[in-house]
Amino acid sequence: MTIGNFETADLRSDTVTRPGPGMRAAMAAAEVGDDLFGEDPTVRALEDRLAGLFGFSGALFTPSGVMANQIALQLLVGPGEELVCDAEAHVLAHEEASPARYGGIQTRTVSAERGVITAELLAGVVRRGNPYTLGTRAVEVEQTHTRAGGTVHPLETLRAVRELTAGAGLAVHMDGARIWNAMAATGTSAREYGETADSLSVCLSKGLGAPVGSVLLLPVEQLSRARKLRHGLGGGMRQSGILAAAGLYALDHHVERIAEDHAHAEMLAAGLTDAGFTVRPPETNIVIVEVARADEVVARAVQEGVLVTAPGPETVRLVTHLDAGQKACRRALDVLAAVMTDVVTGVRNTAPAGHL
Ligand SMILES: Cc1ncc(COP(=O)(O)O)c(C=O)c1O
Repeated sequence: MTIGNFETADLRSDTVTRPGPGMRAAMAAAEVGDDLFGEDPTVRALEDRLAGLFGFSGALFTPSGVMANQIALQLLVGPGEELVCDAEAHVLAHEEASPARYGGIQTRTVSAERGVITAELLAGVVRRGNPYTLGTRAVEVEQTHTRAGGTVHPLETLRAVRELTAGAGLAVHMDGARIWNAMAATGTSAREYGETADSLSVCLSKGLGAPVGSVLLLPVEQLSRARKLRHGLGGGMRQSGILAAAGLYALDHHVERIAEDHAHAEMLAAGLTDAGFTVRPPETNIVIVEVARADEVVARAVQEGVLVTAPGPETVRLVTHLDAGQKACRRALDVLAAVMTDVVTGVRNTAPAGHL
């Protein structure tokens, strides 16, 4: 898309990427079959590859990350049972109350700093059940944590959570939509992360740049139940190898390059800091900037071909990805620094004395 003479710099989300010619060619050439009958070789290849990579015995291709998470939660937590997660978790904020609606799951939240759930935090929260008390059944962690700004749960933290939960007989589901970013940022391997959870959902359509899909990794004993849940949620797909092929292509071509997205996020954060704004130091590909009248900043930037979001009234969010190269990010920086300075100056000039 172009606005005026400029290519649009779309930093609203890493979900906006479009498949390039190589990925499209791989999709067109995919061998397919009816996956509801378990007969799609390309889906099978994707599932097997990811199961092997993260060290799980089973895997299930789903149309979305939401569906992968909800299947996982329903597998681990029954109706009338309790899930503990961060108050800003994606499964709560952006999944249409599905734990309650479809799983009958009671959620109890903790307010984790930077969205990072620790064993210390959990120790004071998880409950053993008794005839009068609802016990905790599972814990959910998000790697990386989106609403906190792409923050990373360190491996040691996850291991400690795993130890505590295992000791208490609780399961752990990891929403690893952006686990690829955590791997790129820390050098931690897929298998090391995989060892810290009972189930793990990974997205193909965010940093990896595929158009559709997630894969839920789980013990193979749970696979047939997971397939039934997916079907019941309307996620039984037929010749979905055409989509899985995009995921396989992304695993071959788009994993290594994620470090570039992180470098672009660093560059944006440094530039906006230099321009006088408070920026949360990005850990991965998400940059959060504090600025008054965030909605106005978003609206003005769009007119200059720079697309960002305002998750709060005084925060602007930028997400770097495959389709926003260095040139686009540099332009976004110039435009945002100018627009934000202008908006803030306007606020200063119009606010009553003492209000800024
Ligand atoms: C942390 C996290 N989990 C899950 C999802 C859901 O993925 P999808 O949009 O494929 O349903 C997202 C989407 O942005 C996400 O950020």
